[in-house]
Amino acid sequence: MQEKKSIHGAWASRWIFILAATGSAVGLGNIWKFPYITGENGGGAFVLVYLFCILLVGVPIMMAEVLIGRRARQSPINAMKEVAIEANHSGNWSLVGWMGVLAGFMIFSFYSVVAGWVLYYIAGMGVGDFASIDGDAAGAKFNSLLADPQTLVIWHTVFVAMVMLVIAGGVKKGLENAVKFLMPALFVLLLVMLGYSMQTEGFSAGWNFLFHFDPSELSWDAVLVALGHAFFTLSLGMGAIMAYGSYMPKKSSIGGSVVTIALMDTLVALIAGLVIFPIVFANGMDPGAGPGLMFVTLPVAFGQMPGGQIFGFVFFLLVGIAAWTSAISLIEPAAAWLVEKFGWHRVPACIALGLLVWSLGIAALGSFNFMSDFTIFGFNTFDFLDFMTANVMLPLGGLFIAIFAGWFITRKMAEDELAISSPLLFNAWYIALRFVSPVAVAIIFILNLVEKLS
Ligand code: PHE
Ligand code: NA
Repeated sequence: MQEKKSIHGAWASRWIFILAATGSAVGLGNIWKFPYITGENGGGAFVLVYLFCILLVGVPIMMAEVLIGRRARQSPINAMKEVAIEANHSGNWSLVGWMGVLAGFMIFSFYSVVAGWVLYYIAGMGVGDFASIDGDAAGAKFNSLLADPQTLVIWHTVFVAMVMLVIAGGVKKGLENAVKFLMPALFVLLLVMLGYSMQTEGFSAGWNFLFHFDPSELSWDAVLVALGHAFFTLSLGMGAIMAYGSYMPKKSSIGGSVVTIALMDTLVALIAGLVIFPIVFANGMDPGAGPGLMFVTLPVAFGQMPGGQIFGFVFFLLVGIAAWTSAISLIEPAAAWLVEKFGWHRVPACIALGLLVWSLGIAALGSFNFMSDFTIFGFNTFDFLDFMTANVMLPLGGLFIAIFAGWFITRKMAEDELAISSPLLFNAWYIALRFVSPVAVAIIFILNLVEKLS
């Protein structure tokens, strides 16, 4: 069979794919969200459930996304349709791609707000605003940022522009160039930060908090959060990884690449926890502080350490980079679809998409100030977007993708694309995809629903 090519281009090598997908995976989810949801859900037992979700649900579904993307070499909407038709099923499977595009917009709108906080902190660290700050002052500073819509809009706008600039450059000139240098730098800096936190007196308390195991702390709520976060952190269930897979070279192993990506994402999350919790405990702060955790605790630590302003500057710079390489992948599926469907150039596509997600972001940032009274199902807009995407839409998208790849496309297509030489490994993947992950997602959904209704 003639090998299909993507009209958008292709990654130079398997390693660029791994770097790009790791760039998508490693983001605010790891450095900002993982520590604070772990803090809110009591630590160790939550982490263990999360690790199981990564291994048994995340990895198999990530392989499915890459295989569908690479098979079709198109945006997720068209890839789902085309692969379904190839397997003699309805082209309506493209609806899964549509839900993914919607989820991407919704995630982007609050993601960009948090990334805006990060940019503000980069600037603040740069000019020495946080020098020798204490816990109370850091909390007050964060709260006054949240109360100031004008500043929030400025940084949100800058972030949207940064993302659209890369997407406008396309796969090779934009995405590939961006991830090639930024990702290695991110790893180095995290290790430096880990070295610092290992010297604080809070390190063993932080370590214990992350890895102690007390099942009595677990609720069904926490299990849903862990499952949702597994999808969120691996960028699954909305087509980002499918889109990146569609630019992957034919001859490279999907399984090996996916395991590498999941491992790197997990490592970064655990290291981020081992950086943040020791600092929290060393300063007598509350690990359950919520979304402000990173923005209040780290400046305090940087304020006290020698050279802390430079450290803080570089640290937030790298968080910004992590957010940047992730946010790109939230919009790439929609951008690719516009190019395929209407033959648009990437620039007008980016302008249209930029305006759309910029407006959504205004609603998200308003949750902290001019729209703080507005709620949907008891959530403010920011929390609603976060909850609906991570805990509902991504697991649902992942469930459909697992059912599609496990039960609708032929085994032969999957075997061709994955090219796993060991029948044992192939079967392990196939069983995880067909049975374990759909059942796990369904059970967690249903039990949560039952609990909420009773
Ligand atoms: N994985 C990213 C993170 O952990 C977030 C993300 C989700 C990116 C879904 C793309 C798609 O921050
Ligand atoms: Na992640």
